[in-house]
Amino acid sequence: MDLGIAGKWALVCGASKGLGFGCAQALVREGVNVVINARNADALQRAAVKLTTAGADTAGAQPVVLAVAADITTPEGRAAVLAVPGGPGRDFDIVVTNAGGPPTGDFRDWDRDAWIKAVDANMLTPIELIKATVDGMAARGFGRIVNITSSAVKAPIDILGLSNGARSGLTGFVAGAARSKLAAQGVTLNNLLPGKFDTDRLATTLGAAATKTGKSLDDVRGAQQAQIPAGRFGTPEEFGAICAFLCSVHAGYITGQNLLADGGAYPGVF
Ligand SMILES: NC(=O)c1ccc[n+]([C@@H]2O[C@H](COP(=O)([O-])OP(=O)(O)OC[C@H]3O[C@@H](n4cnc5c(N)ncnc54)[C@H](OP(=O)(O)O)[C@@H]3O)[C@@H](O)[C@H]2O)c1
Repeated sequence: MDLGIAGKWALVCGASKGLGFGCAQALVREGVNVVINARNADALQRAAVKLTTAGADTAGAQPVVLAVAADITTPEGRAAVLAVPGGPGRDFDIVVTNAGGPPTGDFRDWDRDAWIKAVDANMLTPIELIKATVDGMAARGFGRIVNITSSAVKAPIDILGLSNGARSGLTGFVAGAARSKLAAQGVTLNNLLPGKFDTDRLATTLGAAATKTGKSLDDVRGAQQAQIPAGRFGTPEEFGAICAFLCSVHAGYITGQNLLADGGAYPGVF
């Protein structure tokens, strides 16, 4: 299926690896020009090279890949991605928001600073990026916002309280903004909720669980995969493909949704 977005410009945050990279790769394969972002400049540059190679396989013009090493949770970082030389300025057609998730822990230990940091990263940063780009999208009659959130929005996990809280705030905001007049102007806003995907972040979580329980990493991986109806973790490639579809011309009637990709792990009907 031709997604109909070749030649458009996308900003993909947190894209040097993991789910963000999967999204950038899927978009580049569709001929989309991308500005990718992460903090570590070397890792980001390596990702840009891989994406340029992936773009060489597209049928049309070779997509442009620009890299901006910056902390997206800061005003300076956001200003840098929105003003990268050779990029579209604020005229992005597609924005995929993403940043690292907050740390796990016991809510009794989190002070105001911990909460502000989580809310900044996982709620206010996406909102600022949406604010900076949607009116231009609306003026041009096409726009796609995809926020990478978490299955924890639908099924909160006790030790992920910072994530549950901050991401729920974003979810509520998006539900309202998506149903504003942007919906009639060709701009969709959706959240993509990962369950367990095989990325470095998951590897860190599994490593911590192995250390805590004294079990081997393989045992912990096996036990967690066995709890997922699909019997496995997801891959960044399949996450990216879902994201690219949501960004496509075919997904213009999907807005304000929270799309769960979790191999069937969430047990509810809705
Ligand atoms: N993987 C899963 O199973 C899963 C499940 C539920 C939710 N999630 C959520 O999905 C998001 C992506 O997870 P992932 O598994 O892809 O993580 P990952 O493999 O650790 O990759 C995170 C990416 O984001 C970048 N990043 C982190 N903080 C950033 C910041 N402040 N500014 C700019 N870039 C930043 C990282 O690069 P630098 O460190 O160099 O900045 C890296 O490129 C996270 O919010 C995570 O909590 C993941």
